[in-house]
Amino acid sequence: MEAIDDAIDKNSPLAGVKPQVLNVPAYTLHAYEADIKLNQNENPFDFPGDLKDEVFRRFREYPWSRYPDFVPDSLRQALSKFTGWPKDGILVGNGSNELLQSVLMTLVSDGTPVAIPVPTFTVYRLIATVLGARVIDIPLGADMAYDIDAIIEKARGGSKEGRAGIVVINNPNNPTGSAIDEAGLRRVLDEYDGFVLLDEAYYEFGGYTGFELLKEFPRLIITRTFSKAMGMASLRLGYMMAHPRLAEQVSKAKLPYNVNQFSLVAAETALEHIERFQPAIATLKAEKEKLGKALGEVPGVRAYPSRANFFLVEVPREPHAVFEALYAKGILVRDVSHYPTLGKCLRISVGTPRENERLLQALREAVR
Ligand SMILES: Cc1ncc(COP(=O)(O)O)c(C=O)c1O
Repeated sequence: MEAIDDAIDKNSPLAGVKPQVLNVPAYTLHAYEADIKLNQNENPFDFPGDLKDEVFRRFREYPWSRYPDFVPDSLRQALSKFTGWPKDGILVGNGSNELLQSVLMTLVSDGTPVAIPVPTFTVYRLIATVLGARVIDIPLGADMAYDIDAIIEKARGGSKEGRAGIVVINNPNNPTGSAIDEAGLRRVLDEYDGFVLLDEAYYEFGGYTGFELLKEFPRLIITRTFSKAMGMASLRLGYMMAHPRLAEQVSKAKLPYNVNQFSLVAAETALEHIERFQPAIATLKAEKEKLGKALGEVPGVRAYPSRANFFLVEVPREPHAVFEALYAKGILVRDVSHYPTLGKCLRISVGTPRENERLLQALREAVR
């Protein structure tokens, strides 16, 4: 409110800031330190050490004084080989966040309705709002499942905002772990004729990928990341797949030289040794099954089914008190109780076997 009052005062530094920016809450994360970090859905297994050495060795050859390639073609080529999607339909970004932003910048004008399920990854709403979109909320259905009928109905114009220009779907969904299946996604694409942005940040952990539908629906756009399963969150690398003609337009909304040379080299090295990442992913998937079952056995606790590497967990005490009790034991989880409909919930990433065991012990004590 203070910011808005300020904006009216011509001498304020906020005078002239767009009202939607003043009004939208910032995406923030308090920088807690903890021994066991289960708050950002990261991979607890680091990038393999010998591959790090290989990346350093390769990167050393590059003159640091020069810009990276204008278009990072060799990584796009490697991604094309890895995914089976044509190179011209692939863009790489400084994290998939950058590509989400570029897609929305390309498709959203002032006043464009953008349909977004609730609750989901908050960055979609933040970017759309800053761009002046009118956000159409689509609540998840029972047990946090995607409500396909509601998505179609609202996207087609069944809300006061009118027909959506784009629908954003996160599969599997952060923070709920819920997933859409082929039938659901196909129905959305068949029955709604606008763009669908499918964020597959967690697809490696066992969800359905909409990849095959890219071939049929040139209005579908998929983003993915190296931050989660690939253990490269610090290097900020994501990619997007779409019809090449659409990708060409989205590339106009990206900054030149958006990905630094080190991250490009690391991503190429990772793709050349993709099999080295499988054991950690397999361990995380197995740990997820064990953790989901064990969480469900903690009295008063409910873990929602998840296709990702984290769980939405309902706790029988005030969530922030449980968060603090876990933190006192050196375990950091995410308090998502301020998200719409998640008043009783925390979000907990799957860690190493030892971390998960310590979490379970601490949680049993915290909710006793
Ligand atoms: C659903 C979802 N999409 C995108 C991102 C951002 O990923 P990146 O690190 O590639 O920007 C995250 C990160 O937490 C996420 O949860």
